Amino acid sequence: MAKTKTTFFCQHCGNQSSKWLGRCPACGEWNTFVEEVIQKADTPESKYRKDVKKSKPELIQEITYEKQNRMDTRSVELNRVLGGGLVPGSIILVGGEPGIGKSTLMLQMALNMKANRVLYVSGEESNQQLKMRADRLGINNPDCFILNETFTGEIFRHIGELEPSIVVIDSIQTLYSENLDSSAGSISQIRETAAELQRFSKTTGIPVILIGHITKDGGLAGPKLLEHMVDTVLQFEGDRHYGFRILRSVKNRFGSTSELGIFEMQTGGLREVLNPSEVLLTQRDDLVSGVAIAAMIEGQRPMLVETQALVGQAAYGTPQRSSTGFDLRRLNMLLAVLEKRSGFKLSTKDVFLNIAGGIRVDDPAIDLSVISAVLSSAEDVAIDKNICFAGEVGLSGEIRSVSRIEKRISEAEKLGFEKIIISKYNLKGVNTKQLKIEIIPVSRIQELLDKLL
Ligand code: TYD
Ligand code: MG
Repeated sequence: MAKTKTTFFCQHCGNQSSKWLGRCPACGEWNTFVEEVIQKADTPESKYRKDVKKSKPELIQEITYEKQNRMDTRSVELNRVLGGGLVPGSIILVGGEPGIGKSTLMLQMALNMKANRVLYVSGEESNQQLKMRADRLGINNPDCFILNETFTGEIFRHIGELEPSIVVIDSIQTLYSENLDSSAGSISQIRETAAELQRFSKTTGIPVILIGHITKDGGLAGPKLLEHMVDTVLQFEGDRHYGFRILRSVKNRFGSTSELGIFEMQTGGLREVLNPSEVLLTQRDDLVSGVAIAAMIEGQRPMLVETQALVGQAAYGTPQRSSTGFDLRRLNMLLAVLEKRSGFKLSTKDVFLNIAGGIRVDDPAIDLSVISAVLSSAEDVAIDKNICFAGEVGLSGEIRSVSRIEKRISEAEKLGFEKIIISKYNLKGVNTKQLKIEIIPVSRIQELLDKLL
């Protein structure tokens, strides 16, 4: 086997050096040298290329394709986030903080896909630990193999012998390739091993799932390039203090990126949450101020979430603003709009906002519910628990229309809400005749105040 040649490149200016240098002599940047392969040895996975085709330009109108036969992961939530199942030959990166449940999610998938031979490669846990976890999950797939290995050459050898139909790698940061000298987890190793796996999945059609760690600032550890190399990037997130875990797709070549899967971590593994509104709404009998329900949509799915606000006199000179699950800048903007357009003196008040259930919301339709919760807390008047909201708030205090209003209304109706406050501009196009739920249109913040308080 020919030895691989590597050299060090400055990631800033491209200067080349045979040794690693702390500071680039050409551009003066520090710590920018990264080892890169310039001449490839025979890569281990090249042996599994069954027929290496010569490339040839094809007329686009003559290209035929079969409808992608997606593999069912036996999880409604996971399938949804993937865009309808696993695409053969795709490479998927699952990222998330340590302990969030990435390994659990993937092992559960491996065990649930009973008709498939799955190879679960772990560089993090021993076989016994994985067996213990499988027992805890209480599922059994007679054709699921566990491999404790971090060297890609060996992994490809085992894949060649086992011929699995799915490969899970836990995690990409533990892998190393003999093509490079640098240690496992270094940027060049991550890039090299991911590239080997990518070529492997593209040439064999076997889907590969990579588990990836997340850095302190929330990005996926490793070069941004890793995200470019894979077909799909899924982010597994959630609040440790809640059992809920949310799987989002950040990038998906085979589906929408606005989809969301919700799970609940229980003692026997991850349970799918098929009706999110039921868990995101707190069941309570007594009325409290500062709570408003928003009818939002994530991806294709409508759900009702509870927005909670607490407004109090600021103890110090500068009032505090804090928000969980909602963009803080947007909260500040909404507070400024409220102050300017409705005359509420909020600039001397502390405002805390929380989206219940530990989820993060980007849907602008939640604005109306946010300001209603803030007003309700500021005035200490509870909002009727049978009312929900869907509307965006503009800078001049106007209530703007939101997308797919019918879906929101019917979800609210299904969950037994009696009234929904929406933008006046959303009214046309809504067939109100057959609805049991009462629709209250508003066009300005002032109108909302009159209706609420
Ligand atoms: P894990 O999948 O190991 O996380 P990651 O791979 O993302 O680091 O999940 C670990 C956590 O999940 C751990 O704190 C224990 C908890 N857990 C349960 O609550 N129930 C279970 O059935 C399992 C397997 C784990
Ligand atoms: Mg793990």
